[in-house]
Amino acid sequence: MDLKRMIRVIPDFPQPGISFKDITTVLKDPDGLRFTVQEMARRFRDRGVDLIVGVESRGFLIGAPLAYELGTGFVLVRKPGKLPAATLRVEYEKEYGTDALEIHRDAVQPGQRVLLVDDLLATGGTIAAAARLVEELGGVIAGFAFMIELAGLKGRDRLGDREILSLVRYD
Ligand code: PRP
Ligand code: MG
Repeated sequence: MDLKRMIRVIPDFPQPGISFKDITTVLKDPDGLRFTVQEMARRFRDRGVDLIVGVESRGFLIGAPLAYELGTGFVLVRKPGKLPAATLRVEYEKEYGTDALEIHRDAVQPGQRVLLVDDLLATGGTIAAAARLVEELGGVIAGFAFMIELAGLKGRDRLGDREILSLVRYD
């Protein structure tokens, strides 16, 4: 299936010079989400994944159905102030200023093998921060899965030599 054909590219959004990759057109296609989830599941089904961790918000859209497909639990990494119980927080650099992500402190058990999922890998700052949260809780990173990789931004260089799956790449 040609997933790239389903992704809508919007020039100059949200600001001039940015070419936005819109996944809503994949999600609304009857086959788009199923194909995405099944391709990710095919790669990671035999890798002993115990838990899927998805990053708010678009990572939830793919991570939760992937957890369902693999028969694992699903854990939310959220933007600050959203999770109700005791959290662990990590701050990370964005293009302009810093941002933060949080996870529940009891969401990952030491030694659990975690697959991190997001819709898109750009600079890698977001997913690297999520990975730090998982590792601080004692989780073991089994790999990373993305629908889209903006390869020119070299986000994968920040993720070490762990397994990275991206279904569609832009240079
Ligand atoms: C986007 C995208 C990834 C992240 C990738 O999320 O969904 O999570 O940016 O960028 P990076 O690799 O440079 O860190 P965004 O922060 O726009 O929020 P959203 O998912 O809630 O729309
Ligand atoms: Mg996001």
